[in-house]
Amino acid sequence: MASKFLKIATVYFVLAIILGIVMGITKAFQYASVHAHLNLAGWVTLAIIGLIYRAYPQAAQNKLATWHFWLHNIGLPLMQGCLFLMILTGTESFVVGTIIGSLVLGLGIVFFFINVWKTVRD
Ligand code: HEM
Ligand code: HEM
Repeated sequence: MASKFLKIATVYFVLAIILGIVMGITKAFQYASVHAHLNLAGWVTLAIIGLIYRAYPQAAQNKLATWHFWLHNIGLPLMQGCLFLMILTGTESFVVGTIIGSLVLGLGIVFFFINVWKTVRD
């Protein structure tokens, strides 16, 4: 899973940087939270996890790692996509998607936590 985490991390990086540049040029600072989370919960977090799985291959080859991968990569786009649409359109009901996305992402992170405690040893 190490290379999968690293590769998907770069997708968030590209999206977050494009958004950051557009935000800067158009002075659309209301999207700062979307930009921040794509960069930090997307690029930075997933790249670190990719490197952790390279350092501890036994942690990368189990169902917890696979489940975390999918929950993170469904939850984060859902959470931030809905937040983006909520800010863009002013439609409050998009918050439901943001909440569901954050819960899915949070569950994935719990799986990552369990995986690290179960499998990472010196
Ligand atoms: C070309 C690269 C980038 C551009 C043009 C850019 C642009 C911006 C802009 C315009 C803001 C809003 C500032 C404001 O509201 O006052 C911002 C906020 C932020 N950026 Fe970036 N950014 C870039 C790269 C990054 C990277 C690589 C990271 C992290 C790995 C990052 C993390 C953040 C965070 C955490 C905030 C929110 C700060 C706060 O709430 O005070 N940015 N960025
Ligand atoms: C389920 C996961 C998460 C939820 C629900 C969440 C929620 C939030 C909320 C509600 C804010 C305040 C936003 C605002 O003031 O506009 C915030 C800000 C922030 N969060 Fe998160 N967060 C999550 C995960 C993370 C992760 C994993 C990181 C870093 C690795 C992170 C970094 C930040 C930063 C740097 C800010 C301040 C920047 C900004 O929004 O302007 N968050 N988060």
